[in-house]
Amino acid sequence: MSADTKKTLDQIAALRKAAEKAAASVDGPEALERWRVEFLGRKSALTGLSKKLGSLAEEDRPAVGRAINELRAELEGRLATLQKKAAPEAGEGTDVDYSLPGVRPPTGSLHPLTKTYYEIADFFTTLGFAIAHGPEVEDDFHNFTALNFPPDHPSRDTQDTLYVNDELLLRTHTSPVQIRVMLAQKPPLRVIVPGRCFRADAVDASHYPVFHQVEGLLVDETVSLGDLKGTLAAFAEYVFGPGTNMRFRPHFFPFTEPSAEVDVSCAVCGGDGCGTCGGNGWLEIAGAGMVHPNVFRNVGYDPERWAGYAFGMGVERIAMLKYGIDDIRLFYENDFAFLKQF
Ligand code: PHE
Repeated sequence: MSADTKKTLDQIAALRKAAEKAAASVDGPEALERWRVEFLGRKSALTGLSKKLGSLAEEDRPAVGRAINELRAELEGRLATLQKKAAPEAGEGTDVDYSLPGVRPPTGSLHPLTKTYYEIADFFTTLGFAIAHGPEVEDDFHNFTALNFPPDHPSRDTQDTLYVNDELLLRTHTSPVQIRVMLAQKPPLRVIVPGRCFRADAVDASHYPVFHQVEGLLVDETVSLGDLKGTLAAFAEYVFGPGTNMRFRPHFFPFTEPSAEVDVSCAVCGGDGCGTCGGNGWLEIAGAGMVHPNVFRNVGYDPERWAGYAFGMGVERIAMLKYGIDDIRLFYENDFAFLKQF
């Protein structure tokens, strides 16, 4: 080993000591930067030694090169440790408490009618019902005639039905989609149909000219009123909670026979009678019944072979009962204070 090489190795050792010593007194980001420039910078002694490598005896170069590289790696490791130590804790030295939760950007929420519809749909799709849709602008055939309405039925009256022109009207219920589904599909089938309906009603706390229904239709070879009642009873418990009672009140619809209006026990008073249920403990949520043989004939189904049940529930009605909303107009006013609650 030449004297030059020995001197270089001594310098490396001295540099290591000096760097260690200086590192011990680094006390902040600025001191650390000075340390980095001094020991690892482009003009540092270490860089100078690397440049000198070429002037050493050839057989000594590998050992010296290795020693230089080792020291550089060591100093870079030291730098990384010091950088971690020197970085202030988040928020340190400021008034900001970084452990506090952040500010949530405002987000929207689902409309109570949408939420209610989703719940209705969840129940029936779990039972295997498909979802069907139909047009809001209908014709007399689908909205009335095919549903077995006699030609002079009062609900064809312009007082209830909003006519677009001589041929077209705004559907007064979702039942016309029963006809569309049966004309398009062969039985057996199970569908629910959500949708907007329109009637020329004067606006008050419980009437609005636009409202929503969910129609249900099931057609198969052996379908009974018991199937309908059992399904709706399970539905009532699903939406209004366990222990909710349900009853069928005999009623008339041209397209079902027998027909019923469906009441649930008042969720507010539990059936004892209160302001919400008008004191009798029951609230109407749907119309229902067994599909009339004439309806089957009108869509080309053999009424001797096929049986079915249908129902039409009022989404506003169910949402009002579920959330204790006492005025239907609230659904359509887009009052932020109201909507924020859901
Ligand atoms: N379409 C009826 C209404 O709007 C409800 C209904 C649907 C009744 C299906 C029976 C069967 O009042």
